[in-house]
Amino acid sequence: EDLTPLKDIYADHFYIGNAVGTNHFAGRDLEIMTKHHNLITAENVMKPEAYYDDQGNFTHSSQDAFLQNAVDKNLLVHGHVLMWHSQSEDSLYQNEDGSYKTPDEALANMKTHISKVMTSADAIAGDSLISWDVVNEALDGSFSNPEDWKSNLRQSSGWLQSIGDDYLYEAYKYAREVADSLGRHDMVLYYNDYNDHLQPKARTMYHMVKDINERYAEENPDDDRKLISGVGMQSHYTTSVNIENVRTSLERFIELGVDVGVTELDVGASNTTTLTEEEEKEQAYFYAQLFDLYKEHSDHMSRVTLWGLSDRHSWRSEDNPLLFDGNLQAKEAYYALQDTATYI
Ligand code: G3I
Repeated sequence: EDLTPLKDIYADHFYIGNAVGTNHFAGRDLEIMTKHHNLITAENVMKPEAYYDDQGNFTHSSQDAFLQNAVDKNLLVHGHVLMWHSQSEDSLYQNEDGSYKTPDEALANMKTHISKVMTSADAIAGDSLISWDVVNEALDGSFSNPEDWKSNLRQSSGWLQSIGDDYLYEAYKYAREVADSLGRHDMVLYYNDYNDHLQPKARTMYHMVKDINERYAEENPDDDRKLISGVGMQSHYTTSVNIENVRTSLERFIELGVDVGVTELDVGASNTTTLTEEEEKEQAYFYAQLFDLYKEHSDHMSRVTLWGLSDRHSWRSEDNPLLFDGNLQAKEAYYALQDTATYI
């Protein structure tokens, strides 16, 4: 069966992205990737830990292989991720005895990491690399006072423990400097997080980005760009999520005057290994509603990225959350995106 490419269907609205691994550049995976998508994110090989060997030496060979594949296939790339508490390299902010490095030491290591990663990626991907997740999942608290975002910072982050809450501002400022030095003045710098549909968290994200951007504007009156220029809604949903909450969050982030990207979309539909017909329909209906909402706001949205090519290799494959099934066949959810109206 000849499916219409999703990237063509949504060409007037936003890029259609996906998360892929180096081993997906072959066979049916590659076919699905290039047929339906025009933007990719590395599912794992551009995370901090992927750049360090056992001795803590910096190496970018996995990244380079991934980026070369993307360039060869004419795909744009979203860089994921410069700073994260998970899949990180502890020696950047921690001593061997487990104590944290001084703020100055950790800050210097942070800058070295950011500049090595951005520079080596630029050497392969150049303009194909259109955006970066600078910081991922920095928030994790009770979210009872969303304006006080600093009190909701994730305590298990080695960057927070070593540098303090300034690490966010410093990371974005430095990433902006490196991008400028590479001539990439338009580079979109994202803050990316999950549970983006839950209002206390979404409001906290909003205040964090707003405060950081206001501080940058005050300190840099001649630069009219936003320091954080993108908000990533990861969008790891289930069919029981209330779409109106997604709408409220999306509209809130748009108010920040930044690009809003859907960065890791998947919609869990069951908790057994096989989907019933009814569950598959419900999932298709959910996807159709979501994409209608995205189309409505597409002036402010550059991309909708799915988190995996098929249910076979999804990080939550038991929930069957994607558009193609374990045998790489299109599901109802795919057809729903082809023509949302008939599914709503
Ligand atoms: O590479 C090792 C391999 O050498 C080893 O044999 C194998 C045994 O478990 O593990 C492999 O590493 C796994 C890695 O994926 C690569 O496949 C890790 O165990 C596994 O934890 C890791 O999972 C990734 C997860 O992030 C880690 O937190 C998922 O693939 C990836 O989809 C997921 O993506 C995250 C985003 O980056 C951030 N937002 C949430 C999202 C979902 O958790």
